[in-house]
Formats: sequence, C-alpha cells, structure tokens
Amino acid sequence: MTKKLFIKTYGCQMNVYDSARMADVLAPLGFRPVDAPEGADFIILNTCHIREKAAEKVYSELGRLHQLKKNRERNGDSLLIAVAGCVAQAEGTEIMRRAPFVDIVFGPQTYHRLPEMVARAARANGKGSRRRVLDTEFPVEPKFDFLPQAAAPQGPSAYLSVQEGCDKFCTFCVVPYTRGPEYSRPAADVLDEARRMVASGALEIVLLGQNVNAYHGAAPGRPGGEWGLGRLIRELAEIGGLRRIRYTTSHPKDMDADLIGAHGEVEKLMPYLHLPVQSGSDKVLAAMNRRYGGDDYRRIADRLREAREDIALATDFIVGFPGETDADFEATLRLADDIGFTQAYAFKFSPRPGTPAALMEGQVEDSMKASRLKILQDLLAARQLAYNVASVGAMMEVLFDRPGKRPGQLAGRSPYMQAVHVDPPHSGGDDAPARAGRADGPDAITGVIGSIARVRIVEAHGNSLKGALQGGAGPARIAAQAGPDQRICA
Ligand code: SAH
Ligand code: SF4
Ligand code: F3S
Repeated sequence: MTKKLFIKTYGCQMNVYDSARMADVLAPLGFRPVDAPEGADFIILNTCHIREKAAEKVYSELGRLHQLKKNRERNGDSLLIAVAGCVAQAEGTEIMRRAPFVDIVFGPQTYHRLPEMVARAARANGKGSRRRVLDTEFPVEPKFDFLPQAAAPQGPSAYLSVQEGCDKFCTFCVVPYTRGPEYSRPAADVLDEARRMVASGALEIVLLGQNVNAYHGAAPGRPGGEWGLGRLIRELAEIGGLRRIRYTTSHPKDMDADLIGAHGEVEKLMPYLHLPVQSGSDKVLAAMNRRYGGDDYRRIADRLREAREDIALATDFIVGFPGETDADFEATLRLADDIGFTQAYAFKFSPRPGTPAALMEGQVEDSMKASRLKILQDLLAARQLAYNVASVGAMMEVLFDRPGKRPGQLAGRSPYMQAVHVDPPHSGGDDAPARAGRADGPDAITGVIGSIARVRIVEAHGNSLKGALQGGAGPARIAAQAGPDQRICA
C-alpha cells in the first residue's frame, strides 16, 4: 500500500539533497512524496540551525503539525512526525521534551537508518503506546555506503553531495557541531552517482559540500591516493551528456591552484563561484577564525579572473560580528566595492548557542546591525543591478529547469547563475519567444524545460533577467556583448 510522505526542507542545498535521499530511502517502504502536509502519513521537517530565525521557524511549524496530528487521531488515523537536519542534531533532546507529539528526531548523518526508525515508531504509533526515536549519532560508517543507488531523478539540474562536515570552526558557526567532522566521498562513488544522474536526465550537476573545495576523496584504483576538487571536476567533465558543472560552498583558504586553473580549462565548469568572505576587516576575520585577510581574498579573486576573465563572484557577509567597529565595517564596504560581487547575501550576526562568538565581548546592538546591514545590502544590490544591466543584449545559454512565476513563463539560469525568464508566446512585446525564431507555440515553449536554450537578454531587473529564445547554440560572454538597447527595471 502506498503511503504519503511530505518533507519540508529548510536551509542550504545540502538539506535539499538530503531530503531527496530520505525520500529514496523510504521509497522501498511504500512512501511516495506529496506536495502538502494535509493527508500525509509521514511528515519530516528537515531543519536548519545556522541563524536563530531559521531554528525558530521549526517550533512554529511544529505547532501547526501538532494540530494536524490531533485532528487525524480524532478520526482514528495516524500521522508520524519527524524532525531531521541541523536543529535535530543540535537540539534533539530539547525537541523531544518540548514537542512530545514528535515521533522521530534524527540528525544529518543517520538518515540511512530511517527504515528502522520508522518501523520502531510506527509499531507503537496509533496503538496508544508511544515509542519515540532519537538518533543523533555521528556513526563511524558513512551514510553514503548505505543509501540506495536507485535515486529518484532530480530534474535537469541535480545536487550531488561530495563532501560533508567541517573542521574549520569559524567562531560564529554551528556547522562543525551539526554536521560533524569533514568527510569526502571516494571519487569513484561520486563519478558513479554523477553518471546515474546524467542517465536519468541531469544536464547540470552541482557538487555540494559545507566546504566543498576542501574535497579530498580517495582516488579510484590507487590505494592511498587522493583527488582534490579540481581533479574531480576534470574527470566529471568527461561524462558525455553532462553539460554544466558547479560547486558550492567554498572556503577561500581551500582555493588551490588546480581548482583555480580548472576554471580556465574546463569549459563545462560554469563561470560562477560562490566564495563567502564574511568581512573585509582583517581584525574581524581573525576573530572569526577565517584564516585569511581581506587582501588574501582580493588576490584569490584576481587569480580566478586571470583564469577566467568573465567569472561571476558571489559571496556571503556577516555584519555586526562582536567587536566590529565603524572602521571594520568600512573595510567590508571597501572590499565589497573592490570585488564587485554579482550576487551576495548579507546577514546580521546571530549568536548561536555553543559557538565561541556568542560569548565574545563587544556584542553589537541590533539597531547598529540593522543599519549596517541596510547600507551593505544597498551597495550589493546596486552592483548586482549594474551587472545585470550589463547583460542586456548578450546571447546566453540558459538551462531551463522550471516554469516561471506567471502562467506559460519559463525560468532557468544563465551560466553566471542569474535567474532568467522568458515570457509565453503571444504575450505582447517584441521579445515574445514566438517571434524569436526558435519556438512557435505553447507546446514548443514547454518543450524547452529540461534543455539548454540560447537566449538574448532583453531586460534587466535587480534579481533576474528577461530573455528571448533564439535559435542555435554556442558560448557567450556577457561583458563583451552588452548591447546599447538596455532597459532597467530595478
Ligand atoms: N561553509 C561556508 C558557509 C556555510 S554557512 C563558508 O565557509 O563560508 C552559510 C552562511 O551563513 C555563511 O557564509 C555565513 O555568512 C552565514 N552564517 C553562518 N553562521 C552565522 C551566524 N552565526 N550569524 C549570521 N550569519 C551566519
Ligand atoms: Fe561554518 Fe563554513 Fe566556517 Fe565551516 S568553514 S565553520 S561551514 S562558516
Ligand atoms: Fe543550515 Fe545545516 Fe545547512 S545549519 S545551512 S542546514 S548545514
């Protein structure tokens, strides 16, 4: 009998990958994923602990699920509820105490054991005798060895975890505690999984790791040998049918020469890199335990641009770290301005329980964090808009992987990771794809989802581009091709 499984995912791409793998693990038990919690037999919240707000969301969602479970039980039905991911890892016992209606709590490293956990919880559930399960170990055996090979297809752009955990212990960050020590999967396993993904329709593979460029997986057929991420990418690029490779998230300290070189040499490696800098102040970076300074970061950016002149750099910043002065914040603004990020996320420092920075002296007032955040975000948004505007007129290959927001629209990503949409045919405007030579009706346009199509950029917004489908294919570099017919929609 099929049972309905609803997984709600919070946090980073690794959690998205993990949720897909949880569904794979549960498929042999008859669970089929559904899009809404109503009517589900099993609900998993796959949670994130990175900032206080992220963690808070879990408890409010649990309140709603409790209600759902009570309604079910009133009708004589049962509902299993599980909390997974980084909040589960960090606050497992607390969840068990605060939310007694939760049946299972498990961490990011134990989800291969889900069938046993479900069997244990389900045996008791609905019969009055509740048996609850808490599994937040860091097992010695890596979960990857126990996950099923038959994974459900993820679509044209697929996530593939290659590295997990972190040994860097930045003083603000919970990840080393929630994900555990750094681990790299053997290269042969990664290559096998990548081939299976391509065989089931993936055109793009996004390699994932909390420190993905610290990857050092066992080399195939060479006992004791290791491959770094640069080598892994070069080998993945040999897979026929795979068109694009990306990786995220990287640490500046681990950008080695081979990986930087790969950006210049591997055509399938997309010209985009998310490389979190966190701050432009050497003093703050040292207090964060980042182990590089602002100028080290500038040099890495220069080397990346020497390897691939059109590479788009994206980043993360934290404002209001303990001890951050006006001068430190100005150094951050200078760095942001110098590098010219094409996308960036800025966060207010959130003191996380158990991390050294939460206890540091010189905690910054929330009002100061808020005003610095606004100043930085305005600068970042202006640079992002200017970059997008410079794309107008360019021809780009866009991987269309989903319908757009409006009916009939298509949405995808440029090589530079910009969101690009094209309007349905006959929607008015000179750029309607029906007149652009490639597509000539609604069927033609839906057929574009799951493919890489050539697009002329016709309009720039702060967070996205509008394109018109074109015939033909081939690489395009934006800076050289920005046209005069630019339209700005901030
Ligand atoms: N491994 C990546 C970052 C992973 S966490 C790296 O080394 O850079 C994702 C982002 O969340 C971080 O880049 C950081 O900007 C932000 N972040 C992490 N902990 C935070 C905290 N305590 N407060 C605010 N932002 C935080
Ligand atoms: Fe967190 Fe990244 Fe630092 Fe690791 S390197 S502790 S994941 S911010
Ligand atoms: Fe959040 Fe855990 Fe990812 S804390 S960002 S879900 S590694």
